[in-house]
Formats: sequence, structure tokens, C-alpha cells
Amino acid sequence: MKILVLGRGKTGSLVAEVARQRGHEVEGLDIVDNPNGSALTAVRLADTAVVIDFTTPDAVLGNIEGCARARKNLVVGTTGWYGEIPRVQKLVHDAGIGLLYAANFSVGVNLFFEIAKTASAALRHDYSGQIFERHHIHKKDAPSGTAVALRQIVQNASGKELEITSFREGDVVGLHELVFDSAADKIYLCHDAKSRRGFAEGAVRAAEWLAGKKGFFDFKDVWREL
Ligand SMILES: NC(=O)c1ccc[n+]([C@@H]2O[C@H](COP(=O)([O-])OP(=O)(O)OC[C@H]3O[C@@H](n4cnc5c(N)ncnc54)[C@H](OP(=O)(O)O)[C@@H]3O)[C@@H](O)[C@H]2O)c1
Repeated sequence: MKILVLGRGKTGSLVAEVARQRGHEVEGLDIVDNPNGSALTAVRLADTAVVIDFTTPDAVLGNIEGCARARKNLVVGTTGWYGEIPRVQKLVHDAGIGLLYAANFSVGVNLFFEIAKTASAALRHDYSGQIFERHHIHKKDAPSGTAVALRQIVQNASGKELEITSFREGDVVGLHELVFDSAADKIYLCHDAKSRRGFAEGAVRAAEWLAGKKGFFDFKDVWREL
């Protein structure tokens, strides 16, 4: 199918490469070709099946609005916009399109989320908890979308909101730690991404899954179906 990838940065360029390897026809747009989502017209997107966004927190809402106007399905990998989820959900339903988003498209992180949910029982047994996240110095949002998603999962499971500590150093791809501490012992759960490849493959598989579907989807609820 034809996939339009928004963002030719570190992740977007790898997403385009993986999509080509999986046999898709791929077009890419960077900010100079698409200021404020202006390139996302129904005519321009006529033969595009799905759009994939790996841009910036400033650009992503304009791109979602453009896809809604053009009635095109969209996979959103960009983080830093989740305060707008209720508005975007309405936009997606009103436009009758499909949107699938994730703070993290890697299968490993989504398994880590499920382990974290189970491990949150520690907070009912005299443990305190903390979240640490480390990323490269160019990352534009903090805390990371993955850390925020992890905090939400722990909160839903335990009723307790954990503190997140963010570090920005070197070229760290993405490291997330969930630590539970008691007087007797400490439990460390850690996911350490070695490359962006896991995100890119998950995002392309998500686009294949989303083609032809309508609705607002969270990757953590559907990744087992891919
Ligand atoms: N969900 C996941 O699995 C996952 C994984 C990795 C990253 N992410 C998220 O994905 C986003 C991108 O990360 P990254 O590391 O790839 O960042 P990056 O290297 O900075 O790439 C972002 C790219 O988007 C471009 N851009 C900005 N506005 C645009 C627009 N309107 N249309 C098209 N392109 C536009 C930027 O151009 P300029 O450089 O010219 O501004 C830049 O090339 C971040 O929010 C990050 O947190 C998510």
C-alpha cells in the first residue's frame, strides 16, 4: 500500500526504510514541505492508504487535523500531545477515520508495560516506587511519552502516582526503569532500547493493521493482534 511518512528525522527516516523493506510504496514529507500540515489535502493524499507521523510536539496536532480534513487514517508516533487526546478523539470520530497512537511502538516496551502492571502490586505491600527515564540530548519533550504511559499504567493498577525523573545525555535511544523499594529489598525493572528499529517496525505493522479501520486506538491494546 502507499504510505506517507511525516518527518524525516531519526525515527521517520527509519520508518520509511522499514516500510519499503516490507514492500510498501513510501513518500516522505519534512517540515519544509508541510508547514502546519498544509500539504495534507484530500487531492494530495488521494492514493495514500495510511499516514505515519514522527514529527514534533508542535507539528503533530496540525498533521492530525490535516488528516481528519482529508479523511485519511493516521498512525501517530510523535509524543508530547496527550493532553489533547479528548479533542483528537472527537476529531477522529467526527471525520470517520482511524487513528492509532503509541508512546512506544516496540513490542518489548509493550510487554514491559504488562510486567509493570503486574509488579504494581508491590505498592500495596510497603514498597515505594519511582520511574527513571534516559534519552538523547536532542529529545524535545520531558518526561518521555513512554514514562508518562508507564506512570498511568502503575496508577491504574495501584491508585498511586509515581514520580518520574528524566535524564538527557549523549545519544541514549531510550531507557526506562521502574524501581520498587522496601525496607527488605529492591526490585528493578528496566527496558533499554538498543536502536530505533523496534519502534519503526512496530509503527509500520501498526499502519498495516489500521488500513481500512475506523476509530481511535491505543497500540498497547492491539499490539498482540499485529
Ligand atoms: N512512539 C514511538 O515508538 C517513538 C519512538 C521514537 C520517537 N518517538 C517520538 O517521535 C518524535 C520524533 O522523534 P525523532 O527522534 O525522530 O525526532 P527528530 O529526529 O527531531 O525528527 C523530527 C522530524 O520531524 C520534522 N518535522 C517537524 N514538523 C514537521 C511537519 N509539519 N511535517 C513533516 N515533518 C516535520 C522535523 O524537521 P526539522 O528538523 O526541520 O524541524 C524533523 O526532521 C518525537 O516526538 C519522539 O518522542 C516515538
